[in-house]
Amino acid sequence: MTDPERVEPVRVGMVGVGIIAETHLAVLAERPDVGLEFTVDPKSVGPVVFRGYTPPHYGSLAEALDVHRPDLVVLATPTETHAELATSALLRSTAGVLVEKPLVHDLASLARLRELDGKADVKSRLFTAHHFAFSPEVDWAAELLAAHPDWGPVTAITSAFYDPYILRGPEAFASYVSSWTDSGVNQLSMLTRFVDLTELTSVRQTDGGASAWCTVGFRSRGETGEARLRSSWLTGSSSKESSLLFGRSGVEVWIDHTSMTGFAARGAELLDAFGNDGRTPRKIAHYRPLYASLLSGRPDPVLGFDTAATITGIHHAVPE
Ligand SMILES: NC(=O)c1ccc[n+]([C@@H]2O[C@H](COP(=O)([O-])OP(=O)(O)OC[C@H]3O[C@@H](n4cnc5c(N)ncnc54)[C@H](O)[C@@H]3O)[C@@H](O)[C@H]2O)c1
Repeated sequence: MTDPERVEPVRVGMVGVGIIAETHLAVLAERPDVGLEFTVDPKSVGPVVFRGYTPPHYGSLAEALDVHRPDLVVLATPTETHAELATSALLRSTAGVLVEKPLVHDLASLARLRELDGKADVKSRLFTAHHFAFSPEVDWAAELLAAHPDWGPVTAITSAFYDPYILRGPEAFASYVSSWTDSGVNQLSMLTRFVDLTELTSVRQTDGGASAWCTVGFRSRGETGEARLRSSWLTGSSSKESSLLFGRSGVEVWIDHTSMTGFAARGAELLDAFGNDGRTPRKIAHYRPLYASLLSGRPDPVLGFDTAATITGIHHAVPE
Protein backbone atom coordinates (compact mmCIF):
# COMPACT_ATOMS: atom_id res chain seq x y z
CA MET A 1 0.00 0.00 0.00
CA THR A 2 2.72 2.46 0.88
CA ASP A 3 5.42 1.59 -1.66
CA PRO A 4 6.20 4.72 -3.69
CA GLU A 5 7.78 2.52 -6.42
CA ARG A 6 4.63 0.45 -7.10
CA VAL A 7 3.01 0.77 -10.51
CA GLU A 8 -0.16 -1.26 -9.86
CA PRO A 9 -3.00 0.84 -8.42
CA VAL A 10 -3.67 0.50 -4.70
CA ARG A 11 -6.75 -1.77 -4.41
CA VAL A 12 -9.16 -0.19 -1.94
CA GLY A 13 -12.14 -1.84 -0.22
CA MET A 14 -14.66 0.72 1.07
CA VAL A 15 -16.63 -0.53 4.09
CA GLY A 16 -19.69 1.57 4.98
CA VAL A 17 -21.21 3.59 2.16
CA GLY A 18 -22.79 6.44 4.16
CA ILE A 19 -22.19 10.20 4.40
CA ILE A 20 -18.42 10.33 4.89
CA ALA A 21 -17.73 7.53 2.40
CA GLU A 22 -18.79 10.00 -0.30
CA THR A 23 -15.82 12.21 0.57
CA HIS A 24 -13.41 9.24 0.71
CA LEU A 25 -14.61 8.05 -2.70
CA ALA A 26 -14.44 11.53 -4.26
CA VAL A 27 -10.83 11.99 -3.11
CA LEU A 28 -9.81 8.44 -4.04
CA ALA A 29 -11.34 8.87 -7.51
CA GLU A 30 -9.00 11.84 -8.10
CA ARG A 31 -5.97 9.60 -7.61
CA PRO A 32 -4.73 7.60 -10.60
CA ASP A 33 -2.74 5.38 -8.21
CA VAL A 34 -5.96 4.00 -6.66
CA GLY A 35 -8.63 1.54 -7.82
CA LEU A 36 -11.86 0.67 -5.98
CA GLU A 37 -11.89 -3.11 -5.52
CA PHE A 38 -15.19 -3.53 -3.63
CA THR A 39 -17.76 -1.83 -1.42
CA VAL A 40 -19.51 -3.22 1.68
CA ASP A 41 -22.70 -2.14 3.41
CA PRO A 42 -25.47 -4.29 4.91
CA LYS A 43 -28.00 -1.61 3.96
CA SER A 44 -29.15 -1.47 0.39
CA VAL A 45 -27.24 1.46 -1.09
CA GLY A 46 -27.39 2.76 -4.64
CA PRO A 47 -24.67 1.46 -6.97
CA VAL A 48 -21.34 3.17 -6.29
CA VAL A 49 -19.93 4.45 -9.55
CA PHE A 50 -16.18 5.00 -9.28
CA ARG A 51 -14.49 6.57 -12.30
CA GLY A 52 -17.14 5.08 -14.58
CA TYR A 53 -17.29 1.54 -13.15
CA THR A 54 -19.20 -0.13 -10.33
CA PRO A 55 -17.11 -2.55 -8.25
CA PRO A 56 -18.69 -5.60 -6.61
CA HIS A 57 -20.76 -4.88 -3.49
CA TYR A 58 -21.08 -7.13 -0.42
CA GLY A 59 -23.30 -7.20 2.67
CA SER A 60 -20.38 -7.90 5.02
CA LEU A 61 -16.62 -7.37 5.19
CA ALA A 62 -16.07 -11.10 5.77
CA GLU A 63 -17.79 -11.96 2.46
CA ALA A 64 -15.69 -9.38 0.60
CA LEU A 65 -12.42 -10.65 2.12
CA ASP A 66 -13.29 -14.23 1.09
CA VAL A 67 -13.03 -13.07 -2.53
CA HIS A 68 -10.68 -10.05 -2.65
CA ARG A 69 -7.10 -9.23 -1.65
CA PRO A 70 -7.23 -5.45 -1.08
CA ASP A 71 -4.17 -3.32 -0.29
CA LEU A 72 -6.21 -0.88 1.81
CA VAL A 73 -9.50 -1.37 3.67
CA VAL A 74 -11.28 1.87 4.60
CA LEU A 75 -13.79 1.64 7.47
CA ALA A 76 -16.39 4.41 7.24
CA THR A 77 -19.01 2.76 9.46
CA PRO A 78 -20.73 3.82 12.71
CA THR A 79 -18.23 4.51 15.49
CA GLU A 80 -19.20 1.52 17.66
CA THR A 81 -18.38 -0.91 14.80
CA HIS A 82 -14.81 0.36 14.21
CA ALA A 83 -12.93 -1.87 16.65
CA GLU A 84 -14.57 -5.13 15.56
CA LEU A 85 -14.29 -4.41 11.83
CA ALA A 86 -10.67 -3.25 12.20
CA THR A 87 -9.83 -6.49 14.01
CA SER A 88 -11.49 -8.50 11.27
CA ALA A 89 -9.69 -6.58 8.49
CA LEU A 90 -6.33 -6.98 10.26
CA LEU A 91 -6.75 -10.71 10.86
CA ARG A 92 -8.45 -11.73 7.61
CA SER A 93 -6.32 -9.74 5.16
CA THR A 94 -2.83 -8.33 4.70
CA ALA A 95 -4.21 -4.88 3.84
CA GLY A 96 -3.52 -1.58 5.52
CA VAL A 97 -6.63 -0.43 7.40
CA LEU A 98 -7.77 3.20 7.55
CA VAL A 99 -10.44 3.60 10.23
CA GLU A 100 -12.65 6.66 10.45
CA LYS A 101 -12.18 8.62 13.65
CA PRO A 102 -12.56 7.85 16.47
CA LEU A 103 -10.53 4.63 16.21
CA VAL A 104 -12.54 3.00 19.01
CA HIS A 105 -15.50 3.84 21.23
CA ASP A 106 -13.97 2.65 24.52
CA LEU A 107 -10.68 1.81 26.22
CA ALA A 108 -11.33 -1.94 26.30
CA SER A 109 -11.44 -1.96 22.48
CA LEU A 110 -8.15 -0.07 22.36
CA ALA A 111 -6.55 -2.65 24.68
CA ARG A 112 -7.81 -5.50 22.43
CA LEU A 113 -6.31 -3.83 19.34
CA ARG A 114 -3.01 -3.35 21.17
CA GLU A 115 -2.99 -7.04 22.08
CA LEU A 116 -3.34 -7.94 18.39
CA ASP A 117 0.03 -6.36 17.61
CA GLY A 118 1.92 -9.67 17.96
CA LYS A 119 -0.44 -11.33 15.43
CA ALA A 120 -1.17 -8.58 12.94
CA ASP A 121 1.46 -5.81 12.97
CA VAL A 122 -1.07 -3.26 14.13
CA LYS A 123 1.47 -0.42 14.26
CA SER A 124 2.41 -0.58 10.60
CA ARG A 125 -1.07 -1.45 9.27
CA LEU A 126 -3.67 0.40 11.30
CA PHE A 127 -4.35 4.10 10.66
CA THR A 128 -6.99 6.52 11.95
CA ALA A 129 -8.48 9.25 9.75
CA HIS A 130 -7.76 12.20 12.07
CA HIS A 131 -8.85 14.46 9.24
CA PHE A 132 -9.09 17.72 11.18
CA ALA A 133 -5.31 17.67 11.65
CA PHE A 134 -5.01 18.11 7.85
CA SER A 135 -7.33 21.10 7.46
CA PRO A 136 -5.59 24.02 5.68
CA GLU A 137 -6.19 26.61 8.43
CA VAL A 138 -4.70 24.16 10.97
CA ASP A 139 -1.68 23.67 8.72
CA TRP A 140 -1.28 27.44 8.39
CA ALA A 141 -1.51 28.01 12.14
CA ALA A 142 0.95 25.18 12.90
CA GLU A 143 3.50 26.65 10.48
CA LEU A 144 3.01 30.11 11.99
CA LEU A 145 3.52 28.76 15.49
CA ALA A 146 6.72 26.94 14.42
CA ALA A 147 8.04 30.13 12.77
CA HIS A 148 7.46 32.21 15.94
CA PRO A 149 9.32 30.93 18.98
CA ASP A 150 9.37 34.65 19.93
CA TRP A 151 5.63 34.42 20.72
CA GLY A 152 6.45 32.09 23.62
CA PRO A 153 4.27 29.16 24.70
CA VAL A 154 0.60 28.69 23.96
CA THR A 155 -0.95 29.40 27.36
CA ALA A 156 -4.68 28.88 26.70
CA ILE A 157 -6.89 27.37 24.00
CA THR A 158 -10.63 27.62 23.44
CA SER A 159 -12.33 25.50 20.79
CA ALA A 160 -16.05 25.26 19.96
CA PHE A 161 -17.41 22.69 17.49
CA TYR A 162 -21.11 22.73 16.57
CA ASP A 163 -22.86 20.23 14.27
CA PRO A 164 -26.54 20.29 13.21
CA TYR A 165 -27.12 16.70 14.33
CA ILE A 166 -30.12 17.46 16.54
CA LEU A 167 -32.04 17.36 13.24
CA ARG A 168 -30.92 13.73 12.70
CA GLY A 169 -32.37 12.62 16.08
CA PRO A 170 -31.50 9.09 17.31
CA GLU A 171 -29.70 8.35 14.04
CA ALA A 172 -26.95 10.79 15.11
CA PHE A 173 -26.38 8.89 18.37
CA ALA A 174 -26.32 5.57 16.44
CA SER A 175 -23.64 6.80 14.02
CA TYR A 176 -21.59 9.10 16.30
CA VAL A 177 -22.43 8.08 19.94
CA SER A 178 -22.21 11.59 21.50
CA SER A 179 -20.96 15.09 20.80
CA TRP A 180 -17.82 14.48 22.90
CA THR A 181 -17.16 11.12 21.19
CA ASP A 182 -17.54 12.70 17.76
CA SER A 183 -16.18 16.26 18.06
CA GLY A 184 -13.89 15.75 21.06
CA VAL A 185 -11.62 13.49 19.03
CA ASN A 186 -11.52 16.05 16.20
CA GLN A 187 -10.61 18.79 18.66
CA LEU A 188 -7.91 16.67 20.30
CA SER A 189 -6.35 15.51 17.01
CA MET A 190 -6.35 19.10 15.70
CA LEU A 191 -4.65 20.31 18.92
CA THR A 192 -1.81 17.78 18.55
CA ARG A 193 -0.56 20.06 15.73
CA PHE A 194 0.06 22.84 18.28
CA VAL A 195 0.71 21.43 21.75
CA ASP A 196 1.48 18.20 23.62
CA LEU A 197 -1.76 17.07 25.24
CA THR A 198 -1.34 15.64 28.72
CA GLU A 199 -4.67 14.74 30.37
CA LEU A 200 -8.38 15.33 30.51
CA THR A 201 -8.88 17.65 33.50
CA SER A 202 -12.68 17.95 33.57
CA VAL A 203 -15.73 16.61 31.74
CA ARG A 204 -19.32 17.74 31.66
CA GLN A 205 -21.69 16.11 29.18
CA THR A 206 -25.21 17.54 28.93
CA ASP A 207 -28.32 17.38 26.71
CA GLY A 208 -28.26 13.57 26.89
CA GLY A 209 -24.77 13.49 25.33
CA ALA A 210 -25.60 16.00 22.58
CA SER A 211 -23.37 18.65 24.20
CA ALA A 212 -20.10 18.70 26.14
CA TRP A 213 -17.76 21.05 28.02
CA CYS A 214 -14.36 19.49 28.72
CA THR A 215 -10.94 20.78 29.70
CA VAL A 216 -7.62 19.23 28.74
CA GLY A 217 -4.13 20.00 30.04
CA PHE A 218 -1.23 20.54 27.64
CA ARG A 219 2.45 21.46 27.46
CA SER A 220 3.82 24.08 25.09
CA ARG A 221 7.43 25.19 24.92
CA GLY A 222 8.14 23.90 28.41
CA GLU A 223 5.07 25.40 30.09
CA THR A 224 1.64 24.05 30.94
CA GLY A 225 -1.74 25.35 29.81
CA GLU A 226 -5.39 24.35 29.58
CA ALA A 227 -7.69 23.90 26.58
CA ARG A 228 -11.45 24.49 26.96
CA LEU A 229 -13.44 22.37 24.52
CA ARG A 230 -17.11 23.02 23.82
CA SER A 231 -19.13 20.87 21.45
CA SER A 232 -22.85 20.60 20.76
CA TRP A 233 -25.42 19.23 18.31
CA LEU A 234 -28.12 21.73 19.37
CA THR A 235 -28.02 23.88 16.28
CA GLY A 236 -29.26 24.00 12.70
CA SER A 237 -25.87 24.79 11.20
CA SER A 238 -22.27 23.71 11.40
CA SER A 239 -19.74 26.08 12.98
CA LYS A 240 -16.25 25.30 14.28
CA GLU A 241 -13.66 27.71 15.65
CA SER A 242 -10.57 27.62 17.84
CA SER A 243 -8.37 30.26 19.39
CA LEU A 244 -4.81 29.88 20.66
CA LEU A 245 -3.55 32.43 23.16
CA PHE A 246 0.15 33.16 23.64
CA GLY A 247 -0.18 34.88 27.02
CA ARG A 248 3.47 35.92 27.41
CA SER A 249 3.48 37.95 24.17
CA GLY A 250 -0.21 38.85 23.95
CA VAL A 251 -0.56 37.16 20.53
CA GLU A 252 -3.81 35.40 19.65
CA VAL A 253 -4.29 33.03 16.70
CA TRP A 254 -7.93 32.62 15.68
CA ILE A 255 -8.85 29.80 13.31
CA ASP A 256 -12.26 29.26 11.75
CA HIS A 257 -12.53 25.61 10.69
CA THR A 258 -15.86 26.14 8.91
CA SER A 259 -14.57 28.78 6.50
CA MET A 260 -10.98 27.41 6.62
CA THR A 261 -9.59 30.86 7.48
CA GLY A 262 -7.49 32.39 10.25
CA PHE A 263 -5.68 35.41 11.55
CA ALA A 264 -3.06 36.27 14.14
CA ALA A 265 -3.25 39.53 16.10
CA ARG A 266 -1.61 41.29 19.02
CA GLY A 267 -3.95 43.89 20.46
CA ALA A 268 -5.07 46.08 17.56
CA GLU A 269 -2.25 44.88 15.28
CA LEU A 270 -2.99 42.24 12.61
CA LEU A 271 0.12 40.05 12.38
CA ASP A 272 -0.89 37.54 9.72
CA ALA A 273 -3.99 36.21 7.95
CA PHE A 274 -5.05 33.13 5.99
CA GLY A 275 -7.82 32.51 3.47
CA ASN A 276 -8.53 30.24 0.53
CA ASP A 277 -9.82 30.52 -3.02
CA GLY A 278 -13.26 29.17 -2.11
CA ARG A 279 -13.01 26.33 -4.63
CA THR A 280 -12.41 23.33 -2.38
CA PRO A 281 -15.21 21.95 -0.18
CA ARG A 282 -14.17 21.57 3.46
CA LYS A 283 -14.17 17.78 3.72
CA ILE A 284 -12.29 17.38 0.43
CA ALA A 285 -9.73 19.85 1.78
CA HIS A 286 -9.21 17.54 4.78
CA TYR A 287 -9.16 14.16 3.05
CA ARG A 288 -7.06 15.10 0.02
CA PRO A 289 -3.89 15.75 2.09
CA LEU A 290 -4.81 12.90 4.44
CA TYR A 291 -4.73 10.37 1.57
CA ALA A 292 -1.65 12.03 0.04
CA SER A 293 0.11 11.41 3.35
CA LEU A 294 -1.26 7.89 3.88
CA LEU A 295 -0.31 6.74 0.39
CA SER A 296 3.06 8.52 0.32
CA GLY A 297 4.97 5.67 1.90
CA ARG A 298 5.63 7.87 4.96
CA PRO A 299 2.27 8.45 6.64
CA ASP A 300 2.09 11.40 9.02
CA PRO A 301 2.35 10.14 12.64
CA VAL A 302 -1.07 11.75 13.38
CA LEU A 303 -2.57 8.87 11.36
CA GLY A 304 -0.63 6.20 13.26
CA PHE A 305 -1.62 3.84 16.05
CA ASP A 306 0.51 5.50 18.74
CA THR A 307 -1.17 8.90 18.22
CA ALA A 308 -4.60 7.27 18.14
CA ALA A 309 -3.78 5.44 21.39
CA THR A 310 -2.65 8.69 23.09
CA ILE A 311 -5.73 10.58 21.90
CA THR A 312 -8.04 7.71 22.90
CA GLY A 313 -6.47 7.55 26.37
CA ILE A 314 -7.20 11.26 26.95
CA HIS A 315 -10.58 11.20 25.19
CA HIS A 316 -11.84 8.29 27.28
CA ALA A 317 -10.47 9.38 30.64
CA VAL A 318 -14.12 10.11 31.43
CA PRO A 319 -15.54 8.65 34.68
CA GLU A 320 -17.93 5.83 33.67
N1 LIG B 1 -20.31 12.51 8.49
C1 LIG B 1 -19.19 13.17 8.71
O1 LIG B 1 -19.07 14.38 8.42
C2 LIG B 1 -17.99 12.45 9.28
C3 LIG B 1 -16.77 13.09 9.19
C4 LIG B 1 -15.64 12.43 9.64
C5 LIG B 1 -15.76 11.19 10.22
N2 LIG B 1 -16.96 10.58 10.35
C6 LIG B 1 -17.01 9.27 10.99
O2 LIG B 1 -17.30 8.30 10.00
C7 LIG B 1 -18.09 7.24 10.57
C8 LIG B 1 -19.34 7.09 9.71
O3 LIG B 1 -20.04 8.30 9.72
P1 LIG B 1 -21.14 8.64 8.60
O4 LIG B 1 -21.53 10.04 8.85
O5 LIG B 1 -20.67 8.25 7.26
O6 LIG B 1 -22.30 7.64 9.09
P2 LIG B 1 -23.49 7.03 8.23
O7 LIG B 1 -24.44 6.50 9.24
O8 LIG B 1 -23.96 8.04 7.22
O9 LIG B 1 -22.83 5.84 7.40
C9 LIG B 1 -22.38 4.65 7.96
C10 LIG B 1 -22.65 3.51 6.96
O10 LIG B 1 -22.06 2.30 7.48
C11 LIG B 1 -22.97 1.24 7.23
N3 LIG B 1 -22.66 0.12 8.13
C12 LIG B 1 -23.13 -0.09 9.39
N4 LIG B 1 -22.58 -1.24 9.89
C13 LIG B 1 -21.77 -1.73 8.92
C14 LIG B 1 -20.96 -2.90 8.83
N5 LIG B 1 -20.84 -3.76 9.85
N6 LIG B 1 -20.28 -3.11 7.67
C15 LIG B 1 -20.37 -2.26 6.64
N7 LIG B 1 -21.13 -1.14 6.67
C16 LIG B 1 -21.83 -0.88 7.81
C17 LIG B 1 -24.33 1.84 7.43
O11 LIG B 1 -25.35 1.07 6.81
C18 LIG B 1 -24.15 3.22 6.78
O12 LIG B 1 -24.48 3.19 5.39
C19 LIG B 1 -18.37 7.62 12.02
O13 LIG B 1 -17.45 6.96 12.85
C20 LIG B 1 -18.08 9.13 12.06
O14 LIG B 1 -17.57 9.55 13.32
C21 LIG B 1 -18.08 11.19 9.85
